[in-house]
Amino acid sequence: MTTPTVRLSKRLAQLEPSATAAMGGRIAQMKAQGVNVISFSIGEPDFDTPSLAKNAAIDALHKNHTHYTPTGGIADLRKAVAARASSDQGVKYSPNQISVTTGAKEALYLAFQALIDEGDEVIIPAPYWVSYVEQVKLAGGVPVVVETTEANGFRMTAEQLAAHLSPRTRMLVLNSPSNPTGAVYSEAELAGLAAVLRENESEALVMTDEIYDAICYVPYARWLRVAPDFAERTLVVNGASKAFAMTGWRIGYIAGPEAYIEAIKSIQSHSTTHPASIAQYAALAAYTPSTEIDAAVDGMVRAFKERRDLIMEALDDVPGVTCSVPDGAFYVFPNVSGLLNRPLAGGTVCASSDELTMYLLEQAHIGVVSGESFGAPGYLRLSYATSNAEISEGMRRFAAAVKG
Ligand SMILES: Cc1ncc(COP(=O)(O)O)c(C=O)c1O
Repeated sequence: MTTPTVRLSKRLAQLEPSATAAMGGRIAQMKAQGVNVISFSIGEPDFDTPSLAKNAAIDALHKNHTHYTPTGGIADLRKAVAARASSDQGVKYSPNQISVTTGAKEALYLAFQALIDEGDEVIIPAPYWVSYVEQVKLAGGVPVVVETTEANGFRMTAEQLAAHLSPRTRMLVLNSPSNPTGAVYSEAELAGLAAVLRENESEALVMTDEIYDAICYVPYARWLRVAPDFAERTLVVNGASKAFAMTGWRIGYIAGPEAYIEAIKSIQSHSTTHPASIAQYAALAAYTPSTEIDAAVDGMVRAFKERRDLIMEALDDVPGVTCSVPDGAFYVFPNVSGLLNRPLAGGTVCASSDELTMYLLEQAHIGVVSGESFGAPGYLRLSYATSNAEISEGMRRFAAAVKG
């Protein structure tokens, strides 16, 4: 018998591999070989899940909550999430307007599958979180990438939105605070975007990914608070991963008009059905208002702010690098174009931030992600979800490796 050729679906050919996952893999490999690598590539809080949530999961196990749950989550969790989304957004959500998903990533995936048709355009401001573009392509949509500038704080302007809107625009994706830049839109900026949609009589849906909302160092402006008239065509994505240091539990949610949530749940019912039952009980504890959870979140955000200030100060000492101050999330996004096409320590010349990333890993043993991966060549993304000691030592290595 001949060996069958491996044939994969055509839709796979258009997928770009995840650069953050690739970097994570290479770092793990070097660490296994005994190399002391400091990673700034991690997209998750380095804090423990609050005890209240962990104990709720243990309790759920003992109570044998280990069976299927309804698609989109247990009633109590959807109720708690609806209450949370309502108070966040100033819009009343009922539990039927919520689906709890296997991470926010699944919420986005399902929404694109449910709402995007072949050829529909989806506006995505760059630098962007990589999965938006890939998920839109998987749904047959056309990502319309809008390149924001450092001068505008990596935020899409009303003029840019107007220039990219078309009769085929089906959706606009907003992500504030942003991964990878940490940029946070102001009320006035969001109002400007809403005005453009109104003036153009656009029927585009708005997907607002607010997964980093808890980790924000300036007053947080929400899309629906600024533009409540868009509630009937806005989908809010959020989850427990970043706010409660619960990435591994895989709990996200999507809130929106019932007709859209029903469509999302119908695809969910044929794929994952629901996140793990035990994780749902842990999330129920996290989403039920309590002083314990508030204190855990406050402590984490305070530590992140200190680390942001520490890494910004340390970056000042890295020659050839400039960096605007991020207002949220746990990333800095320095401009490294001053380091390209000139000899670094030891004489190496890097022609792109991709090459610089490899140079920093091999020479300085620090793991960072290149801007190319987020649609922004000439930049690096550094996550400061790591200890103060590692931040200081990592930035010392960065400076030493690039001194010409
Ligand atoms: C902007 C953004 N949205 C969504 C997600 C997905 O989060 P999760 O699936 O862990 O809830 C991430 C994770 O890194 C993210 O950075």
